[in-house]
Parts: sequence; structure tokens; C-alpha cells
Amino acid sequence: MSCPVSMLSDNFKLGNAELESIYATARADDPVSYLPDIDFWAVTRFADVKSILKDTDTFSCEIAMDPIVPFSAEMVRCLQEGNFAGKSNLVANPEPSHDRVRRIAQRGFFPKAMVVLEPRIRKLVVDTIVEFSNEPSVDLVEVMLYELPAKVVFMLLGIPDEAVKNVKRWSDNRLLLIFGKLTKEQQLAAAHELVDFWQYCVEHVEHKEKNPGSDLPSDMLAARNGDDSVLSKMDIALTVFGLLLAGHETTSNMSANAVLALLENEGRWQQLNREPGLIPNAVEELIRYRPSVVAWRRKTLMPVEISGVKVPADARLLLFLASANRDAEVFDEPTVLNLERKNARSHVSFGYGAHFCLGAPLARLELQVILEELTQRLPDLRLAASQQFSFVETVQFRGPKALQVEL
Ligand code: HEM
Repeated sequence: MSCPVSMLSDNFKLGNAELESIYATARADDPVSYLPDIDFWAVTRFADVKSILKDTDTFSCEIAMDPIVPFSAEMVRCLQEGNFAGKSNLVANPEPSHDRVRRIAQRGFFPKAMVVLEPRIRKLVVDTIVEFSNEPSVDLVEVMLYELPAKVVFMLLGIPDEAVKNVKRWSDNRLLLIFGKLTKEQQLAAAHELVDFWQYCVEHVEHKEKNPGSDLPSDMLAARNGDDSVLSKMDIALTVFGLLLAGHETTSNMSANAVLALLENEGRWQQLNREPGLIPNAVEELIRYRPSVVAWRRKTLMPVEISGVKVPADARLLLFLASANRDAEVFDEPTVLNLERKNARSHVSFGYGAHFCLGAPLARLELQVILEELTQRLPDLRLAASQQFSFVETVQFRGPKALQVEL
């Protein structure tokens, strides 16, 4: 029988309970193990994951957005013909180039920007709930959680709501290309969509240059003030391209994971309904308990030893953030969803160090508003009986594809 830890390279085929039990086995018996079919090393203990994320001299972020299954020659040709230049300038960009972009892009996530966005997000959440709240039962992913986070990122980027269907399709496609296990034929079919997505981002920045507004691309264009050494227009298009994936696939999945976890654990929904003041801490605990980015990547720049296991230079690491968050060395009773947990915020679901999630303030705000409005407006929400969950088919992002609830 093969080792259960080897299943981590096919983790999207597993239910939550099964996956969490494999994490526990891995942390105890096999904390650093090689996954031959995808050529990655799985790292599962909190201390290892955090120290790797912190140490940019030994571990590089540059492979963060490479496809898990390398692109075929035909796929690369198709991207070249479409002038695709969508290489990450944040999450997979080492220093010092990364810091130059991050210092300007982060202005969009400062507390004062969140204060401006909060009422707009709340209105969007309330309007969405009102639309379905008279139904006896709905798929919450379909009616709310799939599109809503994209519309929030659109507020930040000055993109009209009408683009939501295209952007969601392009992003789903891009997620599978990078983080999934597509065949060569499936890759090629998806390549054209990737080119369209990239072109949309380039054109959006050109449009913002002619029609500036109160949005991040316009602010970045103003900060660059025509000087490519400060920031190029390509940098701004790349940032838009990055945020149009990072900014909603993560939060769609996270909000679905959060509602599912609350409803699966008896009494938690009612607890938030009675005590809404608990919601900010509950948001952290839910992000710890069932994150939407279950694993993130680094590459070794030299031979290293991790938890006693020798790993060569140039090895690709999958840091299982979701497993680190269940490590009893850091979190008491880690399998319990404790909405009042004191150190819930110590999780590594947003990464750690230089590349710590830029959008974390927005993700936290969005989840808080979604849970405040859902628990107050739908206090009797419950899971529809006997539903089988299936998960987004990627190794690193995780969320239920559908969430049937009764109102
Ligand atoms: C619950 C939702 C989210 C989760 C779980 C999440 C998770 C992550 C993780 C694991 C990283 C990599 C960190 C590292 O390498 O140390 C990251 C980076 C990043 N995230 Fe998020 N994210 C979420 C929401 C968002 C949102 C809403 C946005 C933007 C609107 C965003 C934008 C980014 C960006 C730009 C980076 C790259 C930062 C850098 O390299 O400097 N994320 N995120």
C-alpha cells in the first residue's frame, strides 16, 4: 500500500476530514516527504513552514507561479504568438525588484483605503443576500460567494461589474493551468484564454491612463509619473493581472470554507448570530482552521536539512500551510474550531515575511462583512442534508465547488 502522505499531490480528490488526517500523519511521521509524481517536497510542520517563508537567502519564491505540470512546447508557442508576458512581479519576484512594486501597490490596501471600501462592500453583500433570501434553499457558492469577491477586487481596480463572467472564467482557467494537473491537450485549449486575460489587463491600464479614476491602477500610474525606473506600465498591467487572480479565487474559496466549517460545527453559526463582536476573531480562526490556499511554494537555493531530512539545492517545496495551522506545537486542540482562540491570528494562511499576502486586510474585511450580514440576516441557515462535496481541482487552492444550504 502506498504511503498516505503521497496522496498530497492529488489532495483535491480527498474530503476535508481525510485530508486533515493525512496532514496529522505527515506532521508526526513524515514531516518532509518527496512527492515523485509532481516533483515537489511536501513540508508539513509549522516551525519548518514559517522558517522557510522567512529565510529568503536559502529559499526562493521564484517558482510560485510556475505550472505544476510544465507547459508543453505547443502551449509556450501559443503564448508567445499572443504576446503573453504575464510573469508575476510580486509573489514570484525576488528582491530587490519585488520591493519596488510592492511599496507602490500596497497603497491600495492601507487602512484608509479599507475604510472607503467597507460601505461599498457591505452594500454589495446586502444586495446579494436580499436577492436570494426568500428562496427555501440555494447553492451559496453560485448565488453569492463565487462572483462577489471578484466584484470587490473590481472596486479596487476600477473594473466594471459586467466583466465578472469573463474574469471568473479566465481566472478559473488560469488557476487550473498553474496549480492543477491538466493534460497537454487541456493546457493548449486553455492557452488562448490566458492570452485574452492578459490582453484585457494591458488594455485596462491603457484605458486608465486616458481616463484616470479613484482606483489602484490610476494611483500607480500617477506614482510612476512617466518614469519607467520608478514603475513601468508593464509593471502595472502585471499587478492588475496578479490581483485579478489572487484577489478573488482565494476569497471565494475562503468564504465558502468558512460558512461550511461554521455549519458543520454545531452551534457556531448561532454563536456568531448572538455575539457579532466575536466575528473578527472568528475570521482569523476560520482562516486558520480551513484556509483556501492549502499550500504555497519555495525553491531551495542550496542543500538544506529540514526536520532532519536532507533536501538538495534546486528542490521544489510545497509548504502545507493548512497542515502547519493544525500543529499542536502552536495551537491547543488544533482540530477544534474555537471562535474565541487567543492565538488564532498566528496562522500562516497568508504566508509570512517579505511576500506576506498584500490583500490580507481586504480579505479579512470581506470575510467579516460577509459573516456579519449572513449570520444576522439568515440566522437559521443550515447545510442541506446528504450532499457530497467536491473541491476545486488544484493542489494548492481549496474550496467546495457547491454549498447547498437551507434558509
Ligand atoms: C483568504 C484569502 C486569501 C488567502 C488565503 C491568501 C493567501 C496568500 C498567500 C499564501 C500568499 C503567498 C505569501 C508568501 O509567499 O509568503 C499571498 C500573496 C499575495 N496575495 Fe493573498 N490571499 C488571500 C486574499 C488576497 C486578496 C483579497 C488579495 C488582493 C486583492 C491578495 C493579493 C495577494 C498578493 C498581491 C500577494 C503577493 C504579495 C507579495 O509577493 O508581496 N490576496 N496570498
